[in-house]
Amino acid sequence: METSVAANPTALPAGPGRVVLGVTGGIAAYKAAELTRILVKAGTAVDVVMTDAATRFVTPMTFQALSGRPVLTDLWQSGAGDGMGHIALSRGADAILVAPASADFLAKLAQGRADDLLSTLCLARDCPLFVAPAMNRQMWAHAATRRNVAQLVADGVVVLGPDTGELACKEHGEGRMLEPADLIAALSASRVPKLLAGKRVLLTAGPTFEAIDPVRGITNSSSGKMGFALAQAAAEAGAVVTVVAGPSALPTPTGVRRVDVTSAAQMADAVLARVADCDVFVGVAAVADYTPETAHAQKIKKSGAPLTLTLKPTLDILATVAARLGAPFCVGFAAESDEVERFAEDKRKRKKLPLLVANRAQDALGSDDNEVTLLDADGAHRLPRMDKLALARRLVAEIARRLPSP
Ligand code: CTP
Repeated sequence: METSVAANPTALPAGPGRVVLGVTGGIAAYKAAELTRILVKAGTAVDVVMTDAATRFVTPMTFQALSGRPVLTDLWQSGAGDGMGHIALSRGADAILVAPASADFLAKLAQGRADDLLSTLCLARDCPLFVAPAMNRQMWAHAATRRNVAQLVADGVVVLGPDTGELACKEHGEGRMLEPADLIAALSASRVPKLLAGKRVLLTAGPTFEAIDPVRGITNSSSGKMGFALAQAAAEAGAVVTVVAGPSALPTPTGVRRVDVTSAAQMADAVLARVADCDVFVGVAAVADYTPETAHAQKIKKSGAPLTLTLKPTLDILATVAARLGAPFCVGFAAESDEVERFAEDKRKRKKLPLLVANRAQDALGSDDNEVTLLDADGAHRLPRMDKLALARRLVAEIARRLPSP
């Protein structure tokens, strides 16, 4: 089964240091409250600026309580001190995000008008501007809105969405504001260097499940966190990413294509069907090394006598990919319980990998952070302990600098 983009609210990268969140008039203004909450939780300072129309949908008090900072609504109210408060507000910001951005506000921005605080800030800025449109589908499809959006894109404004789905007017179509987690992922990704732009990355992640009978099987305790974090980091770095995932409840990172599989054999088939046109292959999955010789069609009944299972080896997906003619740049993971570097280096050589990421099995399983050693032809390079997303971003940088130049 192949599915596409969904947000991963549990693995949000830390947002920029300070964001000006512009809220314009629309039902989706309530989602801006949730957006504020998530940004603040990730350590981002959020200065909320509301248009007059926005205050008809959600009160400034809501945003003030969530952001813990004053909410600005009026061009004149901000002019405390030297009277240039509106300029100062955008000057120190890492980004301005207008969410929701109404059709009217997009039109105003496209014309470069500055007749309220938010539009003035957008004009007097030296940071990136993101807009998340939200409107009725006919307004979004209207020639005037299309013209305005094209103008904004030409002016360097980043337009996020909109999505297709049920709209506040009870119609179905394009015009729905992106979910807060998608907006935050886009905001964070925009700050990541595009080290893998134009590259296609294929990964395996999670455990596999080898059926014994219809209700039982052999699996392992891999959570899939490292593989999904790496998929997210590669997508942030501009790669086209496909993750072949064993059974895992983790949500798919934004912009990543996901192929769900169950067994090691299915994982091998899914990888080998897609590997031909990829530049990088990373085997993060904890693939079962053995699978039952036969999966019983019926549930095995308890007889009281000992039960013997015969297991046969599975295909080593990573070694198979690395042995192909014109193989992609292959990266392996090795979880060892002892003598980590020695066993891992043996593994790297045996599987003919340019790069292997080794760790202590006890350290990584299910945990949110990890401490690894990189092994390549030059030897072992220890990395400090860090959370899995930070590590994933570091690994992306390590992979990017080892890729053959085009
Ligand atoms: N791998 C694979 N296909 C398999 C088994 C492993 O692609 N059938 C990949 C994993 O995704 C990981 C690396 O190979 O990148 C781990 O190598 P492996 O030799 O299987 O590690 P261990 O299972 O730890 O091996 P051993 O039991 O021999 O230590």
